[in-house]
Amino acid sequence: MLRVGVNGYGTIGKRVADAVAAQPDMGLVGVTKASPDYGVEAATRRGYDLYAAVDDRANDFAAAGVDLVGTLGDLLGAVDVIVDCAPSGVGERNASVYEAHDTPAVFQGGEDASVAEASFNARGAFEAARGAETVRVVSCNTTALSRLLAPLDETYGIEKARVTLVRRGGDPSETDRGPINDIVPDPATVPSHHGPDVNEVLPDVTVDTAALRAPVTGMHTHSVNVTLETEPDSNEVRDLLAGESRIFLVPAAAGIDGAGALKEYAADAGRPRGDLWENCVWEESVSVAGRDLYLFQNVHQEADVVPENVDAIRAMATDVDAAESIERTNETLGVGLDSRLGDGELTQAELTADD
Ligand SMILES: NC(=O)c1ccc[n+]([C@@H]2O[C@H](COP(=O)([O-])OP(=O)(O)OC[C@H]3O[C@@H](n4cnc5c(N)ncnc54)[C@H](OP(=O)(O)O)[C@@H]3O)[C@@H](O)[C@H]2O)c1
Repeated sequence: MLRVGVNGYGTIGKRVADAVAAQPDMGLVGVTKASPDYGVEAATRRGYDLYAAVDDRANDFAAAGVDLVGTLGDLLGAVDVIVDCAPSGVGERNASVYEAHDTPAVFQGGEDASVAEASFNARGAFEAARGAETVRVVSCNTTALSRLLAPLDETYGIEKARVTLVRRGGDPSETDRGPINDIVPDPATVPSHHGPDVNEVLPDVTVDTAALRAPVTGMHTHSVNVTLETEPDSNEVRDLLAGESRIFLVPAAAGIDGAGALKEYAADAGRPRGDLWENCVWEESVSVAGRDLYLFQNVHQEADVVPENVDAIRAMATDVDAAESIERTNETLGVGLDSRLGDGELTQAELTADD
């Protein structure tokens, strides 16, 4: 049983903590918070032991009537792996603390690639993390692009991928980022950093990216154009993507027209926090012109990296192989949406209206 701690219990940390706690081969030792705000309630309601992320702030928790088991140093002494889910840039500062405690660490995509020995995506580069002391799970956008480009490259060969990323302006809880009423090239320079980040996972894929920020909180949207080395058939591409366990092919018949309906669909499916762990590829958008493939995909930025963190822990600390780890993670979390409205199995007209 791998003993795991989560340092930082925000958007990503709270989801990673739940995912780790759900694994039969892992035990969640505890989580840290920097401040005793509403987030501590989610942890204590779930019975997670709480530690202070910053020693000097432990008294704030006592003043707020929140019991702590200890501080980050105590947590690091009690775990086999720590998952850093601190704000971007803070992870790099934490790296020396983990090293001093000799505790292997998983970092997040807000950190520079140089923070860790390897950048990780289970579909694209599982073995890169094997036995590493430090691993970085790449960002939500890079995760989604790696999952999409890896099977396309394996099957058809990629001559060049060009992706425009329309990124959400902030997470739903990040009220301080808004209100915004603009679409901002971010960065205005092209290509953006996302392409080079994909190359941390898939070094041989040629990919250029351009990025914008839009006044939405739900999901990112990617407009993808890939020139393949061999001419694909659009139906075969759909089958290929449908066969990927962390890609959800959104069927035209489902009547899902955007991120709002996608999130509603996930919530109706019983997903915790309405999370979509999969890339959501719009089936209708998968189009081919010669060797050029076009498609749109939506990415739930709060969720897609969560199963990847679980797999990263296994890749670092066990000898479980990629296929076995991905299957275990998918099964325990319930990753893999398969709409019954696709393939003509069940049309909307056949659904009984019960409300
Ligand atoms: N949000 C996304 O969409 C997303 C997607 C993929 C990857 N990421 C990456 O994941 C990482 C975490 O992002 P996030 O969105 O989860 O951030 P977040 O929601 O702001 O949560 C950060 C957490 O870290 C805690 N914290 C603050 N200072 C700390 C310190 N010195 N040491 C340890 N923990 C500290 C905060 O505590 P308090 O709550 O008590 O202040 C909070 O619980 C970043 O690298 C980010 O780039 C984020």
